[in-house]
Amino acid sequence: MTRALESTGYKIYVQDALEELGRFLEERKYSKIFFLVDRHTAEHCLPLIQKALPELTEFDVIEIEPGEENKNIDFCIGIWKMLLDFGADRKSLLINLGGGVVCDMGSFAAATYKRGIDFVQVPTSLLAQVDAAVGGKTGIDMDQVKNCIGTFTQPKAVFIETEFLKTLDNRQLIAGYAEMLKHGLIADKSYFIYLQSIDIKSINTELIYKSLLIKNEVVISDPSEQNLRKTLNFGHTIGHALESYFLESTTPLLHGEALAIGMICEAFLSKQLNGLAEEELVQICNCIKAKFPMIPLSAGADLALIHYMQNDKKNEAGKIGFALINQIGSCDYDQYASPEEIKNSLEFYRNLIRA
Ligand code: GLY
Repeated sequence: MTRALESTGYKIYVQDALEELGRFLEERKYSKIFFLVDRHTAEHCLPLIQKALPELTEFDVIEIEPGEENKNIDFCIGIWKMLLDFGADRKSLLINLGGGVVCDMGSFAAATYKRGIDFVQVPTSLLAQVDAAVGGKTGIDMDQVKNCIGTFTQPKAVFIETEFLKTLDNRQLIAGYAEMLKHGLIADKSYFIYLQSIDIKSINTELIYKSLLIKNEVVISDPSEQNLRKTLNFGHTIGHALESYFLESTTPLLHGEALAIGMICEAFLSKQLNGLAEEELVQICNCIKAKFPMIPLSAGADLALIHYMQNDKKNEAGKIGFALINQIGSCDYDQYASPEEIKNSLEFYRNLIRA
């Protein structure tokens, strides 16, 4: 029995996903099919698709380098050139087979090539399965500013195959788990509490489905992020700044790792500015501290981080915008914090990891 969620004009298949992909391709008769992959998904995931769909023999493969540092215009031009060289026309389909970078950049490349060709998402990382592949946000980074250039363009379908999660290491799984915790923090306290009790390796279709239900409901109510969808950005204003900051270092953070730290800082801001109770702040910090790597952050980084936040898409009239929770399971958007308040939240994080 296939479990499918109806999103904004397309379906998200959460079970028997590869069979559904086969049916989708059979029904549509695209003129050409392209897979966008990275080195890892070319090696570990494409063969699984070929095994599941032996009748799928006519396609071209475009391979990019893995890593957020490659989600930029240069690599995007590479994708456009390959599409052009391989003769992609407007009846072609791009299948994004990969994690957040492949899904974000592939969908941006497809949304803009010849004014837009169809694309589907086949997310292979936990993070992409519970977040990046769903909701139609396409994009690339510019000057380390995350997703600075992009569109809202919906995929034709999303196929979530949990077999792919077996190809991930623990670090990748934990990174995806951060987005799941966020879903609990903004919308469902009992989900947040339940997630704390699980072993990361036991994350299964049921839990992914639960996260997708939360995200999908928000996206359906506000596809272009005019209001409620902003709540999905909890932890992201500071998280994105950290990700950008560490992109320049020799040890870039995964998106979920940066988000985990961002959620600690923004939970602190939620207490200072939005009525979150002290005991819930402690609960959130204890949970995140126990599960995620707590990266040292010198006070010398604060100015650079605030500079990144000043370029954040959620800002208005020069004010740095946040989504802040008021209690676990409930979130407000269009909240603003001053540079001083943001510095205090970073200091709170430093003190927390020292303790
Ligand atoms: N990743 C947050 C969103 O899709 O809105």
